[in-house]
Amino acid sequence: MENTLSGDIESDKGPSYIALDLYQPPTAHYQAYSEALNRVVDKVESLIQVFGLRNPRISKPGSLEYTFCTPDEWVASFWPGQLWLAYSLTGKAQFKNSARMRREYFKTVLETPAWHDHDLGFLFILTAVADYKLTGDESARETAIRAAELLSARWRQPLPFVMCWNPQLRDKDKFAQEKVGTLNIDSMQGMPLLYWAARETGQQSFKEIADCHQQTCIDYLVRDDFSSYHAYFFDPLTGKPQHGYTHQGYSNESCWSRGQSWAIHSLAQCYLATGTEQFRDTAARMADYVAARLPDDGVPAWDYDIPADVHPYKDTSAAAVTASGLFTLAHCYAGQSEAETYANLADKILYGLLSNHDISGNDSSQGLLKEGAAFVGLGRSDNMLPYGDYYYMEALMRAVGHTEFFW
Ligand code: GLY
Repeated sequence: MENTLSGDIESDKGPSYIALDLYQPPTAHYQAYSEALNRVVDKVESLIQVFGLRNPRISKPGSLEYTFCTPDEWVASFWPGQLWLAYSLTGKAQFKNSARMRREYFKTVLETPAWHDHDLGFLFILTAVADYKLTGDESARETAIRAAELLSARWRQPLPFVMCWNPQLRDKDKFAQEKVGTLNIDSMQGMPLLYWAARETGQQSFKEIADCHQQTCIDYLVRDDFSSYHAYFFDPLTGKPQHGYTHQGYSNESCWSRGQSWAIHSLAQCYLATGTEQFRDTAARMADYVAARLPDDGVPAWDYDIPADVHPYKDTSAAAVTASGLFTLAHCYAGQSEAETYANLADKILYGLLSNHDISGNDSSQGLLKEGAAFVGLGRSDNMLPYGDYYYMEALMRAVGHTEFFW
């Protein structure tokens, strides 16, 4: 395929910051992870020309080829995120240049209010914040702060959280109200953008809004047994909590595996940003829930509560997010016995992915992991997923000791 990358190419001497602050989590598979990470970086490099300016979206079931994002997709940042991770490891300009070729698209996202939702966090942490943290580029910093302003502006009383979904003109009344009043667990991944912006600007309202959002998630999305609801509905007029429910999980009272993973990863990361012990402790109890339900091969099905007569599709993306979150949690407990507990659990999951689901060594594969489950209720299973790939790469980096990322 013709190289679609042109213009704005810079050569340089590498990032001003490389993630060398290594914390060595106890894992029996250090060498295997190190080799896998090298292979993954080579794979990402080989895909730069193949993808051009396109961002992978999802593969068809069982396929090793990606379909690509159209405008306004929440997954658009996971390929650029992999490019920035590869840049932090190698300092090679082609990774940075390819990530930056996407700036025009992300500028359009910022300028299109109808596209703004809780996914602003995913979209701009893995692009603008990553760029700024690795290169010190001022325009990337401004873009990231603007994204944080837009995300925090979605906090509106009386609802005690940053609004997640947008009602559309075409939505029937009840569905529109449901969207306004719903808090979802995916949104927790956006809060590191607000903590970062608070540190960067000194503006405490970013932190106050993120604290409020995370507290509401802990109070309502996390159940007493430390499983989680995918979503919780609040009365949009009074802000009063009503009931939990699911969107992508098996049932309203089940525990959707990827939802559980979003919370663990976010809470561990937000503990590192704030020192709030409730974040770390809640992540730990949610991790204990996972430990008690994980299959022997280390990779969960798409929901922790599916009955025997429902197909137990694996969700490798949930596994990758969980593994990365657990290594982060181990880092939160550095020097304490819990560090080994959570690193061992992370190791079990990551080694399961590496042993049975890693396709990065397959020349014809455009992704790193097979058997993700995007949305089983809509028939989307057995997929390659760009977020599975991104968090797998992040987990491998954490497994060999990297601690500085873009969150
Ligand atoms: N929409 C977020 C997810 O599928 O996990």
